Amino acid sequence: MVIAATELDIPDLSWIDEPDATVDQRREASSSAAEESWIARNMFGYSILHYDDVVAMLRDRRWHSASGKIIEMSGVDDPEWLARSRRRPSILSAEGDEHTRLRRLVGPAFSPRHADALRPYMREVVDELLDGFTERSEADLVADFCEHYPIPIICELFGAPKEDWELFSGWATDIFRIFNGNLAEDKHLIITAQDELDAYVGELIEQRRSTPSDDLISALLAAEEEGDRLTHSELVMLCEAVLMAGTDTTRNQLGCSVALFTHHPDQWRLLGEQPELAPRAVEETMRYFGTVRGTARFASEDIEYRDILFPAGTFIAPSLAQANRDPEVFGEPGTFDITRDPPDKPQLTFGAGIHYCLGAALARAEQQEALAIMSERLPDLELAGEITWKPATVGIFGPDVLPIRFTPTPSVGSSD
Ligand code: HEM
Repeated sequence: MVIAATELDIPDLSWIDEPDATVDQRREASSSAAEESWIARNMFGYSILHYDDVVAMLRDRRWHSASGKIIEMSGVDDPEWLARSRRRPSILSAEGDEHTRLRRLVGPAFSPRHADALRPYMREVVDELLDGFTERSEADLVADFCEHYPIPIICELFGAPKEDWELFSGWATDIFRIFNGNLAEDKHLIITAQDELDAYVGELIEQRRSTPSDDLISALLAAEEEGDRLTHSELVMLCEAVLMAGTDTTRNQLGCSVALFTHHPDQWRLLGEQPELAPRAVEETMRYFGTVRGTARFASEDIEYRDILFPAGTFIAPSLAQANRDPEVFGEPGTFDITRDPPDKPQLTFGAGIHYCLGAALARAEQQEALAIMSERLPDLELAGEITWKPATVGIFGPDVLPIRFTPTPSVGSSD
């Protein structure tokens, strides 16, 4: 018998979306709800709490990405901005044939082979950033490392010159304000950053059209499948998606991962001694403490799932964080162990289904290189004070301030 979702007798997690609920409180409440049920009520609709259901619902094409609805859901009623956001399609909110076509065209440019080609450059950036503070005995890992790390790599990917790093960094920060819950206040900054980035990328595209190079934009310009090509506005949209999706995620994941290691110094030392563990360490840190804790979908039509009717328009929040602690999939899920045998099913911090992270290979390579080098160069890294965390409601969670201390070492770039 099919039952309406509204009639379900399930745990209520609505309060965890309140701004003052901490991540620990949210985690505890979600875990105890997950022991009772695979689904719970939340402020916007329903949280999905078990691994198999999260994957099944993310793979079900009737559930559409809610990323294009953020502005509407945040209560913005400014018609000009609503119209503008509808005019700016994004791969994150595209569905059906439109999405399949985009992924087919851009997929090859984001292969593991392309990501691996950037590893030597990633190592250079990591060493250079570490050289900036290893001669001191203390640092703020966020301000001194995480904030900067992804930008030169995205610039290298785009083939943008070094002197433009600051511009990219500023645009990424401002465009990301869209997820911070202060839309009315931040509107002007967000729109200005989007317009400036559009103009900048537009110019890069024109340059690469006349002089192709060895970068992402040239690869996207050349991308062609059965006579189909990306249009100019699709190229601009993709570059913006990469800048947005590829910077704050990487920064914050690294912050979460190092913060986690400060509570597990043995595992940190082990990684420093055995850098070949880096790929496993990245999967385990992302499983145990992922920066993207959940995503959102809405029902594009009436959907029946597990004998429950979700009417068209229903919102769900598949909890990647909770699924990553599902004891049916990960033995002893509350144990952090970088030597854990690779599980049969992957950790879900990169999502699942058609919107699975396009930059996963690049993000994995970035994290692997950074963690391996950092743990080797700063083997006795420890917390030097309290961590300041972002508000638990942000879409991409992580530390704002991560004070660390360590035995000073000379920079590897120095001659003595
Ligand atoms: C640790 C770092 C990262 C994490 C945790 C992460 C996580 C995610 C997640 C969870 C999604 C799916 C969202 C959803 O289903 O609603 C996603 C999509 C996406 N990611 Fe990442 N990401 C990371 C790094 C990157 C990087 C480095 C890039 C680009 C170079 C990137 C580009 C994208 C794009 C373009 C999409 C949209 C794909 C689509 O809709 O088809 N991400 N990411």
